Amino acid sequence: MAIRNIITEKNETLRKKSRPVEEFNKKLWDLLDDMAQTMYKAEGVGLAAVQVGILRQVIVVDIGEGLIELINPQIVEQKGESVDTEGCLSCPGEYGKVKRPNYVKVKAFDRFGHPIEIEARDFLARAFCHEIDHLSGVIFKDSAIEMVDVK
Ligand code: NI
Repeated sequence: MAIRNIITEKNETLRKKSRPVEEFNKKLWDLLDDMAQTMYKAEGVGLAAVQVGILRQVIVVDIGEGLIELINPQIVEQKGESVDTEGCLSCPGEYGKVKRPNYVKVKAFDRFGHPIEIEARDFLARAFCHEIDHLSGVIFKDSAIEMVDVK
């Protein structure tokens, strides 16, 4: 396992679209392991592969309830809305209020290529939406209602 470099907005790769994963092999597992390690080291709650320069549809999330790995995730259902403050490991020191659904159902694959379906509410739903946005080259600032100072 290795810590990977997290790119920031200055790197145009962050704005590119990620492609679906087609092979669930050791290369993917190494990426997932590295992403988790990189996220924990940076004290983040989520990381998308594009943030370490890999344009594949892979995200990891841990809001303190355990690691969740999602490959080729798609939001298939969403309900409600809530506004809360978000940051991003690719935008250090910047925070903004973003409106997100407070419930999502996500279809994805696990690291072995098995289809999974996961429901999330509140902060976990927010984390999924934030990371899944990254796969389209979208960052939270694009939809932020306002930026806020967090000291
Ligand atoms: Ni982010």
